[in-house]
Amino acid sequence: MFRFREILVQTGDLEWLDKTLAGLSHKPLWRNEETGASISLVRFTKGSGIPLRHSHASNQFMFCIAGRYTYTSTKLTLTPGSFYWNPKGCLHGPTLAEEDSVLLEFYDGPHYPTQPEWYSSESDTI
Ligand SMILES: [Fe+2]
Repeated sequence: MFRFREILVQTGDLEWLDKTLAGLSHKPLWRNEETGASISLVRFTKGSGIPLRHSHASNQFMFCIAGRYTYTSTKLTLTPGSFYWNPKGCLHGPTLAEEDSVLLEFYDGPHYPTQPEWYSSESDTI
């Protein structure tokens, strides 16, 4: 078992993986298969976003690295250096990337209670 081995990932060497929502891609960095907790880089191209109001099955945290990413219903805009926290079960969205945006995203458990309708693949929900 290598469970306690240190791991270093050069995120610039990883490919962006497209999700089934147009304009959204990600680089999965870490995942706990037992709890569903995860850390990923996510990228929204300008004009893309999550189209519907929704909630998550765990606490969600995001740190904005680049761009402008807005929760349109609450007028919250993440800009470089912003830290965002959405508590488990709290409705949020829709969202709009006003610029190409890169966010480091954390979930402390599963992302969604059920598969959101804006994804056509279940693998996009993790
Ligand atoms: Fe969300």
